[in-house]
Amino acid sequence: MTSEYESAAAVTVRAPAKVNLQLAVGPARPDGFHALVTVYHAVSLFDEVTVSPSTRTSIKVRGEDAATVPADHTNLAWQAALALAAAAGLADRDAAVHIDIRKRIPAAAGLAGGSADAAATLVACNELWRTGLTGAELAEIGARLGSDVPFTLAGGTAVGRGRGEELTTALVSGAYHWALAFSHTGLSTPEVYATCDRLRAARAADTSESGPSIEPQLSTALMTALRSGDATAVGPQLSNDLQPAALSLQPDLRRTLAAGREFGALGAIVSGSGPTCAFLAKSAAHAGEIAVSLTGAGVCRAVARASGPAPGAAVLRQDAMS
Ligand code: C5P
Repeated sequence: MTSEYESAAAVTVRAPAKVNLQLAVGPARPDGFHALVTVYHAVSLFDEVTVSPSTRTSIKVRGEDAATVPADHTNLAWQAALALAAAAGLADRDAAVHIDIRKRIPAAAGLAGGSADAAATLVACNELWRTGLTGAELAEIGARLGSDVPFTLAGGTAVGRGRGEELTTALVSGAYHWALAFSHTGLSTPEVYATCDRLRAARAADTSESGPSIEPQLSTALMTALRSGDATAVGPQLSNDLQPAALSLQPDLRRTLAAGREFGALGAIVSGSGPTCAFLAKSAAHAGEIAVSLTGAGVCRAVARASGPAPGAAVLRQDAMS
């Protein structure tokens, strides 16, 4: 650990994955994003990012799905370092960092893994460079990088509005235990939103409905259940407007969801834009049982257990200059 006045040689931050307990999607806005109301819930599956001063910026990605994550300036973590340096007015030579990402959150999985890496990098560089930006300032920079970045900075359980970046804390009691089923292949978030639009347009044409012009609404039944802290009440209230689109792109996910329900999950849902399926369990032990049963049934690539609400991006370690 370093003292308050020394600069660190390396800072390590972890940031959580998220599931969406509700994802209500409205119509596409003129900027191409969809107006939404979502209930974000951070879970205890974390990526770790270590930043250290360097002569030029570089990035290394290891762990879960590392081969599919870009190790160059297109990585959201690299973008985050650049954005923070620009906001803090740092010269290029003072802002060069090596970014080392240890992934446990799969990529293109609907779990906000890229956003978690960006959030962790913002917190880590803010510490390394002693730039002293507030959480609100980091969230503002994060929102420009991705809709889920402000939430992965904050963690907990929160209602997201706008394109997801406008957060209000949700009143939640208790802990929730999850089994997560990872798919063999990822899904592209823009493709899932586009498919959602197409499915809705086709349905509107079939039924001569006027289309999805209604603004998305927060589920009061879900919020009441979350306040009660009773997972049995929360399970049936989980909802995701992107689920039909994710299922149409990966029809095998129906089997995964059905298997989790059969193994006694209180709720079974595609997380965000998918393809990860999230199963709400009665207890930590039950989450373990569901995970083992899903593996046995061969309905996913891999499983993980996690609990929520988990904390947002936070410093794990600061290594002193030697
Ligand atoms: O903000 P983020 O980079 O995560 O968004 C990825 C893509 O997901 C966007 O380019 C857009 O196609 C889609 N999206 C959307 N509406 C949102 C959030 C994301 O259409 N509210």
